[in-house]
Parts: sequence; C-alpha cells; structure tokens
Amino acid sequence: MTIHQLINERVQAALAAAGAPDAPAVVQPASKPEFGDYQANGVMGAAKALKTNPRALAEKVVAALDLAGIADKVEIAGPGFINIHLAPEYLARRSEAALKDDKLGIAPVKPLRVMVEYSSPNLAKEMHVGHLRSSIIGDALARVMEYVGHDVVRANHVGDWGTQFGMLVAYLVETSHAGDADLQLSDLETFYRNAKIRFDESEDFANTARDYVVKLQGGDEEVLKLWRRFVDVSLKHCEDVYEKLNVGLKREHVRGESSYNDDLPVIVKELRESGLLTEDDGAQVVFLEEFRTQEDKPMGVIVQKKDGGFIYTTTDIGAVRYRHRELKLDRVIYVVDARQSQHFAQMFTICRKAGFAPEGMSLEHVGFGVMMGDDGKPFKTRSGGTVKLIELLHEAEERAYALVSEKNPDLPEAQKHEIANAVGIGAVKYADLSKNRMSDYIFNWDTMLAFEGNTAPYLQYAYTRVQSVFRKAEDYDANAKIVITEPAEKQLAAALAQFEDTLNAVVEGCYPHYLSQYLYHIATLFSRFYEACPILKSEGEVRASRLQLAALTAKTLRTGLDLLGIKVLESM
Ligand code: ARG
Repeated sequence: MTIHQLINERVQAALAAAGAPDAPAVVQPASKPEFGDYQANGVMGAAKALKTNPRALAEKVVAALDLAGIADKVEIAGPGFINIHLAPEYLARRSEAALKDDKLGIAPVKPLRVMVEYSSPNLAKEMHVGHLRSSIIGDALARVMEYVGHDVVRANHVGDWGTQFGMLVAYLVETSHAGDADLQLSDLETFYRNAKIRFDESEDFANTARDYVVKLQGGDEEVLKLWRRFVDVSLKHCEDVYEKLNVGLKREHVRGESSYNDDLPVIVKELRESGLLTEDDGAQVVFLEEFRTQEDKPMGVIVQKKDGGFIYTTTDIGAVRYRHRELKLDRVIYVVDARQSQHFAQMFTICRKAGFAPEGMSLEHVGFGVMMGDDGKPFKTRSGGTVKLIELLHEAEERAYALVSEKNPDLPEAQKHEIANAVGIGAVKYADLSKNRMSDYIFNWDTMLAFEGNTAPYLQYAYTRVQSVFRKAEDYDANAKIVITEPAEKQLAAALAQFEDTLNAVVEGCYPHYLSQYLYHIATLFSRFYEACPILKSEGEVRASRLQLAALTAKTLRTGLDLLGIKVLESM
C-alpha cells in the first residue's frame, strides 16, 4: 500500500470508531509543509452529516487514529483539519526499500488487458502536427500502464481505406510508367497534391481512380498490391517520425481501417437484427434517444450511406466488436482529438446497445485540445499550410543543437547531436505532456527550450546535476542507511514516496501531466535539499544517507522521464 492509501485506511477506521463510518476520509498530501505531510479533511463533512461539532469529532477521530510507526505527530487545525506528520524513520525505511526495488517499490496491480489506441494518422498524406498530441500522449499512457503492470496492447488505427486511395493508386500507376514513382513517393504531401491535380484535370484519370476504388473494395489482387505498396511507403514515413519522437509504435501495432472492411456489411446486418436500424432517405441510420438535435429529436447516426458505402463510424463499430471478441480487452482507450468527442460518445452508445461491447469493457475517449501557434490560432506554417511533423522535429533538434553548441562549444560533435536529440525532442514532448491534455496550448520554441521553469531541459539538466554528484562520490554505498533529520530531506523523501500514487492517478484519469508536475516538484525539492544539505561536503553517515536520497531522486527522475518517453543524459 502507498503511504496515502495506508493513511486513508487508518483515518477511515478512526472515523468509523468515532461514529462516522460512512464519511470519506479525504486524505491528501499537505498543501504546505506547516500542515505536515498529509492532511485528512473529512471531519468537517462528517460533522455536518452527524450535526455535531467538528472540532470535537476531530478529537475523537485523532484519539482513535492508529498511526504508530507511521506518523510521529498528529494535530488538529482550524475547524477540524487533521495534519499528519510522517515519522522520519518510517520515511527512511520506505525510501531504502524503493531504492532496492526495480520498480521503485510500487505494488503490482491486478493486470487488466488495456488497449491504448493512438497516433492513427491517415496514410493518404504525411503525418502533420495534428498527429503530434495523440502520438505522444498515447505513448506516455501506454508506457505508464505497462510499467504499473497492465497487459497493454498498443494500436495504431491508421486511415488506410476509402475513396482517396483509388486516386492515389491511379497516380502510383501513372508515375510508375514514367519511372519516377519512388522519387514521387519520397514526399507524400506532394504526391497527394499531384494526384489531386490529375484527378481534377483529367476525366479519364478520375474514372480510373473510381474504378480502382471499386476494385479495392472488391478485393482485386492487382489493385490491392499497388495499394499495399502505397501503404507500405506511407507507414515507413510514419515510422521515421515515431523513431525520431521515441514513440513505441511498430508495424505490428498497425491495424488499419481496411482490416474491418469485410465486417462492415455484417455490422449493419447485426444492427438491423437488433432492431436498431432505420432507413432514412435511403441511408441506414441508428437513431439515439440519448443525443438530441436542435429540434430536440433523437439524433441519427449514419452507418451506411445511400450509395451503399460505409463510413468512419461503421469502421469504428467494427473495431470495437473485434476488440471485444478477439482481443478480450477490459479497457480501450482512444487518444483522439477532443473535437471527435461526439463521434465517440455516439459510437460507444451504439456498441453497447448492439452488444458489441459488454458492460465490463470500458470504452474511453481520451481527448485533447488544439496546439496553437504564437498567434493563438491553430499551428500552421508562415504561409498558412500544414506543418509536416518530421520537419517540426528536425527544427526542434536544430534549435537544441544551436543551444548546446553555444553553451558547450568544445563538446565532441557526436555528443552535441545526442544532446540535441534528447533536448529538442524532449522539449517538444514535455511542453505537451506537462499541460492538462484537455486544454489548448501555445507552441513556443523559446519557452519549451528554456533551461528554467517547468520544461524538459530543466528536468534533464536536474538529472545530470544529480548524476554529477555520483561522479565525485567514489565512496557511494548502495546499501547505506538513510537517516532523515533536516526538513529539506524529509520533504524530498515524502515526495519521492508519492511516485506510485502519481502513476495510479495517471492510469486512472489518463492524464500524463500529473506525472510531469510530479517530476518538476521532485526536481524543485531536490534543488532545495541540495542547497540546504551539503552532500559532498558532509561526512560519514550523513553523507552516505544524503547520497542515498540523491540516488533515489535520480532513479525517480530517470524512470519518470522515461515513462513520458523523454530521454535523459548523463551529462549535458
Ligand atoms: N484517422 C483519424 C484521423 O486522422 C483518427 C482515427 C482515430 N481513431 C479512431 N478509432 N477513430 O482523424
């Protein structure tokens, strides 16, 4: 159990003993050091419900509260807050245990089968900045879930199907005849643009394109082969981005929209059999009472168009059905732009009603806001075009390289590049992961690359600072005892002990910024500890103990940054 859970349980028991068994204990880390390490704020609510004096109830609770060996001081403050001061001894033993454990002392969870679906670009074009947030938020969530012990399935639900692909295949055939298909495919953005120009200018070309769509849908091997070639090249572009971004998506995680193609008629048939379908103006529609139109009528969700074609929603329903039947998932997390929230809410509702997703399988749309430029408008190039993701990442590295070269001109070239990669990419990721994913944020190079403030470079630098201590401490003893006496030591140790609670919160709400904020807090506390408690200038037991706290700090920062997909460096 984490300290938080333990205290919560004990306060809960004390509340019960004091006559308030149903009142929540409301235990949280103390907001200020004066209030101890944890506060229990549930007494006021309990007193209100029992119509009794809160201060008197608090006294009863404290009298019944058994925190022997855990806390050395418990005080009542204000109208009935309970402030809990952890015993230094107890914190020291926990810190030692965390240091010895591979997983920093976190308890194994009951493993669930969790799918994190993320990135999911459309393969017709090259990945652009719009795919950045899903890719990095999803990857961080997958890493954290895996780390705490869940059985994680990563999924990249790429858009690899639909009418655009007929046009692209037609253009691929044309450029192959001209002998420059490879060259053209090296820039998908231009490839798409040129294909579109051909489509608009030539009736013949457009007809061929339409013919290919029909052939694709009918499973024509020749056309499928060309389509596969295109998809393969496009996926390679994505993989370059994932590699540069340090995002753990591989070919095996790809299961595109095309893979549900054969299920779509079945889905519609099953929806009809469940009585959920209505024909409306030739289209097949599911009307949902739960969603209302402006005229307060049930909203209709189309699953098959008048022309017989299926749509985005139908594919998503197929994917849910597959994920339940074949993958037997407990939890499916969709990391997709918040602007698609209605689509997901409706799609989930249809799946529940049709029995494609049983009660026990949780379906969660993990949305996120928009990445804005300095002008407060959605991020674009100067000329208003979409920014290719790979180019943005190259720019991040170039900027970081310039910074590193300025700071440390004498470093070997290879090391400068390594630092530039870790810092540049880390900065882009952390700028995103440090904010509540639901809010829009302004993408600003100078802020994210700053060495001060809540940034990746600051944290990476903090980590190297801790590591530099160890380069000077040849006597470091990994088995040394931790002895906590100073307030700065205690605050650091108490915060380090909150790692598991932090990860649990990330897993529960799918908010990576809890982890970012936590790491920033740890870095800040370490720097206070470092100022207040000399490490290398102290001696004996004190020195050995402080080195241990530094070691636990380093391990926590390294693990935490790794869970965010951010690289650390031994020096920079
Ligand atoms: N390919 C879609 C897009 O770029 C995102 C897919 C999200 N996932 C899903 N299951 N619908 O907008």
